[in-house]
Amino acid sequence: MTVNKNNKHSFCCRISDKPSESVISYGKMPIANGFLNSEEFSKEYFFELAVTFCPTSKMFQLIEQPDPKMMFHENYAFFSSTSNKMAEHFEKMANNYTANFLSNPKDAFVVELGSNDGIMLRHFAKAGIKHLGIEPSSNVAEVARQNGVNTISEFFGEETARKVEAEYGKADIISAANVMCHIPDLNSVGKGIGLLLKDTGIFVFEDPYLGDVIKKTSYDQIYDEHVYIFSVQSVLNAFSPYGLEVFHVDPQTTHGGSMRYYLCRKGAHAIKESVGNQLKIEDSLRLDKIETYEQFARNCEQNKNDFVKLLKQLKADGKRVVGYAATSKSTTVLNYCDIGPDLIEYICDTTPIKQGKFSPGMHIPIKSYEDFKNDRPDYAVLFAWNHAQEIFEKEKAFIDQGGKWIVFVPEVKVLSSQESLIQNVA
Ligand code: SAH
Ligand code: TMP
Repeated sequence: MTVNKNNKHSFCCRISDKPSESVISYGKMPIANGFLNSEEFSKEYFFELAVTFCPTSKMFQLIEQPDPKMMFHENYAFFSSTSNKMAEHFEKMANNYTANFLSNPKDAFVVELGSNDGIMLRHFAKAGIKHLGIEPSSNVAEVARQNGVNTISEFFGEETARKVEAEYGKADIISAANVMCHIPDLNSVGKGIGLLLKDTGIFVFEDPYLGDVIKKTSYDQIYDEHVYIFSVQSVLNAFSPYGLEVFHVDPQTTHGGSMRYYLCRKGAHAIKESVGNQLKIEDSLRLDKIETYEQFARNCEQNKNDFVKLLKQLKADGKRVVGYAATSKSTTVLNYCDIGPDLIEYICDTTPIKQGKFSPGMHIPIKSYEDFKNDRPDYAVLFAWNHAQEIFEKEKAFIDQGGKWIVFVPEVKVLSSQESLIQNVA
């Protein structure tokens, strides 16, 4: 990647190897899940968070991504099981696999990439079905093992696939939730899937969906881990060179709007109508046009200006504002908008290893949930807007005691009644 004299990046797409168009830069960004102690402030790592769109592969992607080993390691801060709704989601996913894709569970082999703390695979472990989690972050992998989930701590790619195939044989299902978009080398993934998948096996993955990000201006889905934000068209283009095709797609409400992609070896499964239908929706959203992304960039700027203006006004009015949930997404918002502890006093989060630390880049203190409960602020910024329903249900008392929520997706708004909260989520 180089920067030319117009200060535009010249970048070749990871999929097509053709020049890609700059969309927007969110500036200097730290590791999104890199919560830190004050002694670590001076050696914090930063990179430039900027995205491009490739007119050839239709891929929306980061220009620069930090080394995966800096993001996924023994102190990884994201534990999937912190959300009850996600636990339900993954139970349904496991049931769907068993009911529709495992004709003979006794002889089946189910693999999950990025299996984290075993939130999905534990259902296969419980049912005594042969399974394997491939999870490089050793702390979350250890939690999975304690839950009886067979897990190895490796990054998935061609080499790992070869090792797993030699030891366990080929898989009926390879599942990956919120991880395919994390892996820059899809060439190695494509080859690995080719090695590990049975001839009639299925490779299913789900990730935040580009159509939703564009429609909702949910630019906070863009952070170091998410090197790609996929669409059906870009997934078709990325995996076709490896003899894989998409035979079904299924939109999901998780993470603010995701897409589940079902892939198989070419010709192994009948292609469902859902694929053509979703491609038509992508045409109507103009996801193949650079103008769509130019408008998206303007929407991001507008969202930032509105958010900063509101927080500054509240500060001038002497109001106390805190953040609710120290999500990885919040790192993009806080750093792009340059919001520090002067505007947001602290962020409460239920994850023990985040508490007592500071947010990446802007160094806002992370406190426990009890702090929020015992010392009510005037306003709380809902950073975990993708878990809004679950949070609003358990936080009725905050509104009853006069508290107000601030949301910024799809636009910056103050919500002060339970009804307006639910409408905003719907
Ligand atoms: N599937 C879980 C976890 C998503 S977070 C869920 O949806 O909640 C992404 C996970 O992928 C992290 O636990 C991270 O350690 C893991 N990961 C990152 N790169 C990977 C790779 N190359 N292969 C397998 N897992 C990877
Ligand atoms: P995510 O948006 O990347 O899934 O991260 C969720 C974060 O939100 C995680 O740090 C846990 C936190 N969280 C809370 O603090 N309270 C909650 O009620 C929920 C659902 C999540």
